Amino acid sequence: MGKQGKKHHGRSHSRLREDDDPLPSSAYDSEPPQQQHPLTIDEFPLEEEEKEAKYKYEEQSSCDLPSKFVLYQRSVQSPKGDISYMQKFFWTYVGGRLPLHLREDFCGTALISAEWLRSDSRRTAVGVDLDIEALTWGLENNVQQVGADAYSRICLFHGNVLHSLTNAKCIKSASLGSENYKSLRETEDNSGSVTDDDEADLIKKLEVSENVQDYCGQKESSFPAADIVCAFNYSCCCLQSRSELVLYFKQAWSAISKKGGIFVMDLYGGTSSEHALKLRRRYEDFMYVWEQEDFNIINRTTKISLHFYLSKNQRSLRYAFSYHWRLWTLPEIKDCLEEAGFNSVHFWMREMPNIQERREVEEFEVNDNVKYEEISSFNQKDAWNAYIVGIANKVEKRS
Ligand SMILES: C[S@@+](CC[C@H](N)C(=O)[O-])C[C@H]1O[C@@H](n2cnc3c(N)ncnc32)[C@H](O)[C@@H]1O
Repeated sequence: MGKQGKKHHGRSHSRLREDDDPLPSSAYDSEPPQQQHPLTIDEFPLEEEEKEAKYKYEEQSSCDLPSKFVLYQRSVQSPKGDISYMQKFFWTYVGGRLPLHLREDFCGTALISAEWLRSDSRRTAVGVDLDIEALTWGLENNVQQVGADAYSRICLFHGNVLHSLTNAKCIKSASLGSENYKSLRETEDNSGSVTDDDEADLIKKLEVSENVQDYCGQKESSFPAADIVCAFNYSCCCLQSRSELVLYFKQAWSAISKKGGIFVMDLYGGTSSEHALKLRRRYEDFMYVWEQEDFNIINRTTKISLHFYLSKNQRSLRYAFSYHWRLWTLPEIKDCLEEAGFNSVHFWMREMPNIQERREVEEFEVNDNVKYEEISSFNQKDAWNAYIVGIANKVEKRS
């Protein structure tokens, strides 16, 4: 999950109005703190100090700590912004009907899907992720908040986006969270994540639990085909080879309605993305740190880690999320989307604040007034963020 690792300084949901054009999610585009608090460097050590044993997650009982997913969602995601842009892209490139059916690939806690359901009672969502812990947490904490009918309009699949969902498990469950998710939390290790054994246990429980509604019953095919397929917070960077990327884009194309639709993903780049870097942002009650390791120019890979430092009692969740990413380029993505069947590909970009002009470790702020714009030419910058939109005009293709 997400500068994104995914990212920057967007707008707070609570400040969004109907007529706002909010910024998307991604580490650069996350929502800002409501209030800036003048915290000292001693309260939030960085660099070498970060490595000291002072901040030890192991030292406290995990019930004192907020979930790593709560911190992630607050720091990294901005679902209203993403949905606002997806709607704009759909109306621009497809039009003629309201986009009602979303497929959120690499969905994690399915925050975007939950917001999609909330935005219109006719809307449906399908989410897919490999991480059962994120999916179950999202069902309990995001989907459940939408309202009683939300479960009937969503299916979260525990599966691989590279494969058909025919054999994936749909983990729709009203009772999953209270029983099984609790037991999962109890088996969390000190890093705040579940071990492989715990995960296997949870999956087994889910499969045998009579309380789980429709665990294997409801399939992707019972949901309308997607108007929009999305893959946010740089998730396509999880795919390391060109063949995997094309295979995934073919799956995304297949999931789109015969009436046509769009695929939307995000990507970051710029000179600052190709070397080691640490960015931080302070919130009222915690600090979020995005750590980017050295960048391998042979295969364009890097490791991204997200850390959270809580103000209360100097607690920390270091390495709450870690990813090995291949940083794809815009032309590579375009080539692969076209090879997978998309008719055209559009880039919407915005420049991000220049990190090079500051210190290596710096707080990142984003000017809320800077919107994404469709471009056909963009000179290299220190940092940029992009929405990439693939158009699947299937009606035209068939005729
Ligand atoms: C960077 S996170 C993004 C999560 C969420 N989309 C967001 O916007 O914050 C990437 C997610 O992709 C999932 N993932 C990675 N490879 C996957 C695959 N092949 N199939 C399904 N999910 C995958 C991970 O489990 C993780 O939840």
